[in-house]
Amino acid sequence: MRKIVKAEILITRRCNLNCFYCGIKRKRPERDAAFWREAFRRIKALGATFVPIYGAEPLVYPQLVEVVAAAVEVGLDHTVISNSTLLSEDLAKRLVDAGLESWTVSLDFPEVRLHPPSTRKRARAALRALDIFGTLGLRDLEVVMTLGRSNLCYAPDMVLRNSFKGIWTSFDVLHHDRGMPWSKCASREVLKDELFTEQDADKLAFVGEVLASMVPKALIHQPSRYFDMFKEGYPYRLHWHCLRSFEKFGSPGWITVDCDGSLIVCDDLDIPTGFSILDLPERWDEYMEVWQRIVRSCPGCFWSTHWMSGEMLGRSMMDELLAHRTTWGDVRSRLGKEVALSDV
Ligand SMILES: C[S@@+](CC[C@H](N)C(=O)[O-])C[C@H]1O[C@@H](n2cnc3c(N)ncnc32)[C@H](O)[C@@H]1O
Ligand code: SF4
Repeated sequence: MRKIVKAEILITRRCNLNCFYCGIKRKRPERDAAFWREAFRRIKALGATFVPIYGAEPLVYPQLVEVVAAAVEVGLDHTVISNSTLLSEDLAKRLVDAGLESWTVSLDFPEVRLHPPSTRKRARAALRALDIFGTLGLRDLEVVMTLGRSNLCYAPDMVLRNSFKGIWTSFDVLHHDRGMPWSKCASREVLKDELFTEQDADKLAFVGEVLASMVPKALIHQPSRYFDMFKEGYPYRLHWHCLRSFEKFGSPGWITVDCDGSLIVCDDLDIPTGFSILDLPERWDEYMEVWQRIVRSCPGCFWSTHWMSGEMLGRSMMDELLAHRTTWGDVRSRLGKEVALSDV
């Protein structure tokens, strides 16, 4: 039985930027491409079909081309999520030649000038990277938009502009550290002007409804049910919990592998579990016991990709969809367009 649908790979914890909301950087050892080839085999053996490769910033990792080639060799769909500031045309071409199938950039407003100073350079680089990979004919180009109070009203505009260019959009909402140790998110104090609160309930419900109505036609990764959850207060209560998927299926639907090969409970809660990816699949049950014990103390989150992994795990139609060896983008588009997902 499939244990997971994806494994998140934090290929490095180094980054050349300092976005105001992010605290994911750490000093931590890294592994070489040969290690990742073996890790990908184990991830595949767990039933996963998709690896998002990110970190902090994957372009500071010296063997990214080789790691992409390893994912292709093992037969895992993948995307690289990058700030793209270090992307040259030559490197982009080498990545495509290695079999890269998808590139994801972070963009919080549809225009560079609207970004705050700490994310403006990343926005400029993101637009340039989309152009470079678009010219090289890369099939799956994606934008991830981190929603906060000041950019919420631009979300439909972002989807329209990207869809017209054949670029996918996916969303996450801004998270703060929620008082947990080792969170990847900046503190509530730093983010206080941007975090959603109950005061934003009407606006969230409205934008959620607009986005849900765009799902059937636009290139949006999330299914409409995700946006329906906006009117239920999920973006400010952050009360979705991966234990719900665990209780149903014996797995949250994904694992997170840190740059040193260790397993962490998720990329937000960077709490060591004492396990390595090389312990799986053999020690899966033991790992799930430890994972469960740690996440019980988490008050919840609303990470869209984790929510979707939980949703997908229990659905047999995923086997049919994935058997077609489509890209992750195709799978998500079909989930969004043809499948009415029920409550978790
Ligand atoms: C940690 S970055 C790593 C990849 C790459 N360096 C980049 O910026 O695209 C991955 C995503 O996490 C998002 N992120 C960082 N801090 C966040 C926070 N506090 N809440 C929600 N998303 C956050 C970023 O906007 C980015 O889209
Ligand atoms: S969001 Fe990405 S680019 Fe910004 S500091 Fe974090 S890892 Fe670096």
